[in-house]
Amino acid sequence: MPFFRRKYSIAETGLLQGMIDIHSHLLSGVDDGIQTERETFTALEYLEEQGVRGIYLTPHVMETFPENSSKSLTQHFENLINGYAGNIDLRLAAEYMLDGGFESHLENRENKPLAIAEDHLLVETSYLNPPLNFHQTVQKIKKKGYRIILAHPERYLYMDKSDYKKLKADGFLFFQLNLLSPTGYYGRQVRENAEYLLRNDFYTFTGTDIHNLESHRQAFNIKSLTAKLTDRINVLIENNRQLFFN
Ligand SMILES: [Fe+2]
Repeated sequence: MPFFRRKYSIAETGLLQGMIDIHSHLLSGVDDGIQTERETFTALEYLEEQGVRGIYLTPHVMETFPENSSKSLTQHFENLINGYAGNIDLRLAAEYMLDGGFESHLENRENKPLAIAEDHLLVETSYLNPPLNFHQTVQKIKKKGYRIILAHPERYLYMDKSDYKKLKADGFLFFQLNLLSPTGYYGRQVRENAEYLLRNDFYTFTGTDIHNLESHRQAFNIKSLTAKLTDRINVLIENNRQLFFN
């Protein structure tokens, strides 16, 4: 195979070495991610072996999981931390679905939303349809003084190139790549979207969005990244680090 077409797996690229992950479903038993504390500790041990240094745990806050609030998740997080003996710097945030319940979290004065680096809200939308009043909601978040990290825009099949450009135009909304999207883990369309967004510098951050250790472990070993794409992802990895340590 000619040199320029050589492909590397995530594990081979060294992207995980020293990585800060800003998107994960490792807080056990609160969403569709990892379910038991034991599995969480196994996953953390594996990620530590791969070189991951810091992780934001970002459980889903959405109408599907009505019991998840800033208060309840903080309690779960404290319990987890008390039993954790590893060396990864763990922090708590959340991934907010822009659904009918979102504004009650945004407006809650007593228990503020769980943000990344104090003022960055990780938000997602449905994969198939844009949220009602998407633009107005984005403006409300902005008015509250938050910046937005839009989780995995490559996975929103209702979005096209002009939507990406409109969303980015304001300058306070950042795109987060799912690290596995360029591997084809979520299918061909998502891989192509991710490659387009990477090549055109739409992304600022990246995250694993890990829900389950086994499937991620396998996908970390799929040879799918060119040297060029790896370089682009490395820039995002550095941005994650800035967000975590500044
Ligand atoms: Fe997620």
